[in-house]
Amino acid sequence: MACMGVCRGFTQHHGGSWLLLAFNLLWISAAQSFHVSRQFAPAQPSNPELTYKTYYFNQKVDHFGFVEDSLFKQRYLVADSHWKKPGGPILFYTGNEGDIALFCNNTGFMWDVAEELGAMLVFAEHRYYGESMPFGDLSYSDPKYLNYLTSEQALADFAVLIRYLKESIDGARDSPVIAIGGSYGGMLAAWFRMLYPHVVVGALASSAPIWQFEDLVPCNTYYQIVTNDFKKSGPGCSESILNSWAAINHMSETSDGLQWLSNAFHLCSPLKSKEDVGAFKGWLSETWVSLAMVDYPYPANFLEPLPAWPIEVVCKFLNSPKSSEKELLQNIFQAVNVYYNYTGTAQCLNTSQTASGSLGDLGWSYQACTEMVMPFCSDGVTDMFEPRTWDLQAYSDDCYKQWGVRPRATWITTAYGGKNITTHRNIIFSNGGLDPWSAGGVKESLGDSLVAIVIPEGAHHLDLRSNNAYDPKSVLVARSLEVELMKKWIWEAGNN
Ligand SMILES: *[C@@H]1O[C@H](CO)[C@@H](O)[C@H](O)[C@H]1NC(C)=O
Ligand SMILES: *[C@@H]1O[C@H](CO)[C@@H](O)[C@H](O)[C@H]1NC(C)=O
Ligand SMILES: *[C@@H]1O[C@H](CO)[C@@H](O)[C@H](O)[C@H]1NC(C)=O
Ligand SMILES: *[C@@H]1O[C@H](CO)[C@@H](O)[C@H](O)[C@H]1NC(C)=O
Repeated sequence: MACMGVCRGFTQHHGGSWLLLAFNLLWISAAQSFHVSRQFAPAQPSNPELTYKTYYFNQKVDHFGFVEDSLFKQRYLVADSHWKKPGGPILFYTGNEGDIALFCNNTGFMWDVAEELGAMLVFAEHRYYGESMPFGDLSYSDPKYLNYLTSEQALADFAVLIRYLKESIDGARDSPVIAIGGSYGGMLAAWFRMLYPHVVVGALASSAPIWQFEDLVPCNTYYQIVTNDFKKSGPGCSESILNSWAAINHMSETSDGLQWLSNAFHLCSPLKSKEDVGAFKGWLSETWVSLAMVDYPYPANFLEPLPAWPIEVVCKFLNSPKSSEKELLQNIFQAVNVYYNYTGTAQCLNTSQTASGSLGDLGWSYQACTEMVMPFCSDGVTDMFEPRTWDLQAYSDDCYKQWGVRPRATWITTAYGGKNITTHRNIIFSNGGLDPWSAGGVKESLGDSLVAIVIPEGAHHLDLRSNNAYDPKSVLVARSLEVELMKKWIWEAGNN
């Protein structure tokens, strides 16, 4: 399975590093959790039909050199039933690390506002994901084929595609285009506006951690946010999780203890070695992080259906941090079961099954090993995780082993400006207060037209999800401000 190789490789190296695993989740909860949520959402307002057409554009494999002159088919999806032509706006989703249909289906916000804005919706797939493979089945087979998997190439794809759409679609020549994205897609939306201001009039970058690089933000804020989510969701909750690590370590000292742990957690494969225990702890950590990302106010779906405010439900099991080791760990088991066995159908818990074994993980792992070097750390004092420092050298060595390449940790800020972005205009940065990824987000406006919106009760890009009867007021306010700003950009585009 794709992810296993990657995850295991890293796990063994950092003695259970969950750092790399964490970014893989960017798109999982971005997309998959939305996915079935429509079905479980209690009082859904009329959802527009998800009808779109699929197209393929002959895209250059390499926009920046002239030797590799081949083409590949980039997939994009178009929904134009509300488009007011000629000249009506185009909302352009800057696809991130996954199948574009997933993002299309699950970015309910775009579907919800299309009619009001008279907008065409376009969802463009990111190269090396979904069906958009530059070298077909060979794309992931060798580092030389992966060489064109960069954010710059992806942004150039978007620019070339938009130019083509405006030239080829009747009535689109003067259409203002707005970039929209969430997570890594949000980073791309913001960077797209920065690099190609003549192509898009503005960008909505939701839950986009554009500052989770180098030392632009402290490396431990991410885990502190996760911790706070648990701390405020029930008494003793974060403390129970903090205490669980020592209990696990103590239990793991003997083979009887390992056996006990394996049974207590109903694990599919029993823990046998130190590496297994590292992977087990990594899996638990990842579960807590995932819960923070999907802590939505209404039932949603991840691996399995989740209740509304899942962390509160989890914390009901974690109110006695001082209980005996075995009791504490049994409570932890009950808590993770909310995540993995809410419907009561799980046969056993599989510690290799955290995110998904899809190609999305693999591609992101490569991107994390080249451009997307995001430092994370924890200290077990200001957060509830085991202490772990950020070690770029070890990270780089792991990348070299895995991919035959070494990361360039300073490239992203060099290319896109890091914090020096105040000369740009018309970008909205929205972040949820519950979302660990808000750690690397822009949470204060950087001027009139670089607008930060914080949604205190929001998890990972709640604003991009469909309207829901249980939405907190703060996300309704955020969405209406987003629509107002988009209307302003559209109006300005037509009046200058
Ligand atoms: C997206 O939605 C369409 C229509 O509802 C469905 O057929 C398709 O399987 C979905 N694709 C994904 C990747 O979710
Ligand atoms: C999942 O829940 C059901 C019903 O409570 C239980 O019988 C089963 O053992 C649980 N599975 C795991 C892996 O704990
Ligand atoms: C655990 O998950 C991995 C990855 O999805 C899979 O390959 C493996 O077969 C699963 N193991 C069991 C016992 O279900
Ligand atoms: C941003 O500006 C500061 C102060 O002028 C400078 O020290 C820093 O190197 C700049 N960063 C980038 C990425 O250009």
